[in-house]
Amino acid sequence: MSELSVKHLLGIKYITEDDIHLIFETADHFKEVINRSIKKVPSLRDITIANLFFENSTRTRLSFELAEKRLSADVINFSASSSSVKKGETLIDTVNNILSMKVDMVVMRHPNPGAGVFLSKHIKASIINAGDGAHEHPTQALLDSYSIRERLGDVAGKKVVIVGDILHSRVALSNIFALQKLGAEVKVCGPLTLMPKHIESLGVKVETNLRKALQWCDVANMLRVQNERMDISYFPSTREYTQQFGLNKAMLNSLDKEIIVMHPGPINRGVEITSDVADSAQAIILDQVQNGVAIRMAVLYLLASKIEKNED
Ligand code: CP
Repeated sequence: MSELSVKHLLGIKYITEDDIHLIFETADHFKEVINRSIKKVPSLRDITIANLFFENSTRTRLSFELAEKRLSADVINFSASSSSVKKGETLIDTVNNILSMKVDMVVMRHPNPGAGVFLSKHIKASIINAGDGAHEHPTQALLDSYSIRERLGDVAGKKVVIVGDILHSRVALSNIFALQKLGAEVKVCGPLTLMPKHIESLGVKVETNLRKALQWCDVANMLRVQNERMDISYFPSTREYTQQFGLNKAMLNSLDKEIIVMHPGPINRGVEITSDVADSAQAIILDQVQNGVAIRMAVLYLLASKIEKNED
């Protein structure tokens, strides 16, 4: 297989296992490229990409921008907080104005779930979802699975537990889809108040005891409590949350095997993970960030090859 089955990357739900393997194989190539002394290739020299961020981001935004520049694309950046969105402009008007400047691809982060799917029905450009509310964050899940593959050789057959605020997490949902498509077994662990009601219908098991979850898994992906998405309290106090679901060195060392620890960032040190775990050799958090550039180069490259150039 040499091309993706989709024109947009709106979510892991919409792509196939073959798509994921193609992205990984392409990322292997780009990872080698970005470790050379000359890190740039001309692959997207005629492509213009708009990065539209309607919500805050550090890793995803910088990673996409770097990936685009490494591929020699022309890049424009848009931040909702400093734009005419503040004056009441709609999403479609904002995007159509940007596209009229001959933009080929849109990378969009938006607080509303389904924003990318909605946009894909109204515009011609190729869209990559860089996180839509509590729905999906496909490139994060791809870089997470790619990092597991890099460390453990394969994702198939591995046991992965996702720990924390599953209810508000787009990373959790995209990871569940990606890991299952690649043949991993997935559990989720956290307070029941932070579990979506029908999470087991996705084929994952719920574990409320962190020690049991860690004893079971090969990989623990620790998620942040997303206070910015909460309008009520879901647990009595941060201290109690940390006591029950925070990962510390004593817990890690007490397991009878060595597991891999992941975190999508941003980390709340001392809440879901202690610094000595986050900075330990078992944590692959910065590998995830580094792999994000190669994964995003692969996604951009593969989607760009499907663009029908409009010469009018
Ligand atoms: N992991 C992630 O999406 O981080 P940012 O919000 O900083 O992009």
